[in-house]
Amino acid sequence: MGIVDTEHFSIPLLDWYDRNKRDMVWRDRMNPYYTWISEIMLQQTRIEAATGYFIRFTEELPDIQSLAQVPEERLMKLWEGLGYYNRARNLKKTAQILVEQYDGRLPADYEALMALPGIGPYTAGAIASISYGIKAPAVDGNVLRVLMRYLKCDDDIAKMSVRRRVEHMLLDVMPERPGDFNQAVMELGEVVCIPNGAPLCEKCPLMDSCEAKAAGCQEDYPKKAEKKPRRIENRTLLIYELDGCIGIRRRPQSGLLAGLYEFPAVSEKLTIKEVRELLEKQGIVNARVSSMGAAKHIFSHVEWHMKGFYVKLERAFERQKLPPSVIFVSRDELSQNYALPTAFRYYLKQIIEGKNEK
Ligand code: ADE
Repeated sequence: MGIVDTEHFSIPLLDWYDRNKRDMVWRDRMNPYYTWISEIMLQQTRIEAATGYFIRFTEELPDIQSLAQVPEERLMKLWEGLGYYNRARNLKKTAQILVEQYDGRLPADYEALMALPGIGPYTAGAIASISYGIKAPAVDGNVLRVLMRYLKCDDDIAKMSVRRRVEHMLLDVMPERPGDFNQAVMELGEVVCIPNGAPLCEKCPLMDSCEAKAAGCQEDYPKKAEKKPRRIENRTLLIYELDGCIGIRRRPQSGLLAGLYEFPAVSEKLTIKEVRELLEKQGIVNARVSSMGAAKHIFSHVEWHMKGFYVKLERAFERQKLPPSVIFVSRDELSQNYALPTAFRYYLKQIIEGKNEK
């Protein structure tokens, strides 16, 4: 791996950042709590999408004290659609530790930040540098891509050793404005040195010293080892309606989408005929069943291949035939109070908009 230096890397990069940095709601109102929340959200989604989540989250939970006390269900609702729900749970856990041990504040210390639940080297570096001006690297996927291209480095960016080397290299050339410097590298990766397809090298302040650009192979970087293919899980969702209310149930407290709500489902792909047979076996004989179509949802290690069926129960007593874990809630309650992950969006949208009613 080559190296970066101040003259060719840090100075032109900061200069570019000063002229091009984007507006972000959390940048206007600098405080460590906002930095923390926004950085965790940005690990899940793009800046445009994170903005709405950030505003809603911080309006309801304006500080560490309110986050420490938020009921789990509200927290899940505020995080609904972002994915990796344990990240939200860790926010609350950390807020509780901060209230108990740190006087309700995020410590201005990289190692102490790293020791908190859900805060790894990237987030610790981002909070330390952006909020407290501490010289600490904050290396995310964007930063790795920028560096691997700049140095035309063939190393596998999934390796921890490569990340460590990049962290050391950036620390060596970190200027007096560490927060701006870290954000400049990230932002360059997000808007210029972009993934998937051609980077916008003509707009890059580092174009003249980038080794991949010089060799014309910038799209071949970064290198990543092949990943194992994802496991495929078939699911048939049964979306029950009774007297205007929709049946949902809570997922188990551990594993994928732990503790969130879902439509009842079986782990195989059924035809409409098989769905009717399944219902009959449970003693539900009068329901109206119609297909809501197929949808796919991709998680990091698993793909759900889903089929959905709308099941309108005609008789109230048939509800007793369903497992007690299934609760019926109004469409308004479903939208406002229960966190249904994005995996179900295709079906939820039809239900909320009443499109399934033929
Ligand atoms: N991506 C994640 N965090 C960022 C930040 N603070 N600035 C720019 N891009 C980012």
